Amino acid sequence: MKALAVLLAVSAFQPKIPQTWKNSDVEALEVPLANPKYSPIHISEGTYYRIPVRIIYKSYPVYHPSREPAGYIEWLKQQEPEIAFDPSRLHTREDWVKVGEVVFNAPTSYGPVFFSAVNLRDPSFFEKTGMPVAKDGTVPFARWVIRRKGEVELGSMGCNTCHTRVMTDGAVVPGAQGNNPGDREGASMLRGAAKAGDPFKVLERIRAFTRQFEMPWLSDDPNRRAQVMSLDELVAAGEEIPPGVTARSNTSMLVPPQIPDLIGVEERRYLDHTGLVRHRGIGDLMRYSSLVQDMAGLDRYGDLQPPKPDAGHAARYSDEQLYALVLYLYSLQPPPNPNLFDAVAARGKKIFEREGCGQCHTPPFYTNNKLIPVDGFEPPADHKQRFDIMATRVGTDSRYALETHKGTGYYRVPSLKGLWYRGPFEHNGSVATLEDWFDSARLRDDYVPTGFKGYDGRTRSVKGHRFGLDLSAKKKKALIAFLKTL
Ligand code: HEC
Ligand code: HEC
Repeated sequence: MKALAVLLAVSAFQPKIPQTWKNSDVEALEVPLANPKYSPIHISEGTYYRIPVRIIYKSYPVYHPSREPAGYIEWLKQQEPEIAFDPSRLHTREDWVKVGEVVFNAPTSYGPVFFSAVNLRDPSFFEKTGMPVAKDGTVPFARWVIRRKGEVELGSMGCNTCHTRVMTDGAVVPGAQGNNPGDREGASMLRGAAKAGDPFKVLERIRAFTRQFEMPWLSDDPNRRAQVMSLDELVAAGEEIPPGVTARSNTSMLVPPQIPDLIGVEERRYLDHTGLVRHRGIGDLMRYSSLVQDMAGLDRYGDLQPPKPDAGHAARYSDEQLYALVLYLYSLQPPPNPNLFDAVAARGKKIFEREGCGQCHTPPFYTNNKLIPVDGFEPPADHKQRFDIMATRVGTDSRYALETHKGTGYYRVPSLKGLWYRGPFEHNGSVATLEDWFDSARLRDDYVPTGFKGYDGRTRSVKGHRFGLDLSAKKKKALIAFLKTL
């Protein structure tokens, strides 16, 4: 009987794994860019499946140097390499979700990106950059990996590097808006490299790196400015990017995006602030993950070839790895909310309803899953049939939607769930707190943004989205109390 029960439980889950890279699905994946002539053209199905699959090895936690168990690195050197993703060993749905977490934490890079192995063994690096450490002394943004016995390598740039949050009490929340200060770490590495070596070479290297953000089809491409910025200016630009915001591939160093919360991603129909990628089902999120991690560097834009034809990684995730990863993403839960729905929050809920916030931030997902055109963009006639577009505008800073490789000319309506544990807010993470978001001072040109300031650190207006700005102080407080219960 027991054997039969086990057999039944095992046969109950039959994964239906979509083909990640099917030409027809890839072609329909994205909303066109504001200038559709330069929408990205991705590699073909044939080319995709010729790229070798990433082998995911067993990995081990990284500790802050003062919290590392005695003899840890020596012990790691004794460990045999072990493959951690083997679909033949997966039977239940839980098995898939569990191994999905391994994929989430699996490094895609063994070189220094935001930090190196030397950095993470140097306490002053944590002090300089503000890199947070979890309650148990671990650094959840990186892993030690054994690919060859005796060689302990630092791996990073898995999803965990950007999509993990360490709360003030040291609790780790996977999937939440990350708070690894990646660009500050990068800036600190640059400074160190310039001091130790040839600053001119370092400058060349960083300038070459920033070329990926350029949009040659814009007559006055702001991203080109990086080519005339000095090393000090480029380092300062990195230091200006706060935790929770990061300039990853296809975004921008000048107007980097807020890292979205992945908890609740299953409820969202458009991914990225500009709603670039459609989310019609599990297959689209698998495509999204592969695209941003490995394939984006191989994209063509209209008749423009990628800056480096061999850009992108030499590996891809397998369809099984991506399937497990997405089941894991869909399973992510928010941390327990300490904010009670009390009388003040109840008043705030009424204000939320009276102010019409729910038109866009519609319960229960607190988004209506629609796209809103930015100032300076007129949606083509056929978009109304093809996509969920609102006629209203909110008038926020249009640069991210017009001057980046993800620029569709829209911002999607973000979900308000989990506001209490995340921040900074707005598509560039320009304001640190909800109090700042509802402070009308942010509209002024002499405003100093409390989140991402701008690459040159000047004052600037965090404009648009005037909803709730004219409420009395007492009403704002109640509204915010309500928002923090979501
Ligand atoms: C270098 C940092 C970085 C890494 C590594 C990274 N992401 Fe992201 N991710 C971002 C940023 C920044 C955005 C926002 C981009 C935008 O809005 O244009 C984002 C957006 C997303 C979104 C869109 C969510 C939404 O609601 O719009 C998903 C899904 C996502 N990432 C999943 C992943 C997964 C899965 C991995 C690993 C396979 C991963 N990311 C690796 C930084 C990163
Ligand atoms: C017409 C649609 C619309 C209405 C009405 C609206 N919002 Fe928004 N809201 C948006 C859009 C679009 C954004 C993203 C703007 C951006 O990032 O540029 C946003 C962003 C936000 C954010 C920041 C979220 C984050 O994750 O960074 C908060 C908080 C917010 N809205 C709360 C409210 C509240 C409260 C109200 C009512 C007082 C309201 N909104 C009314 C469309 C709307």
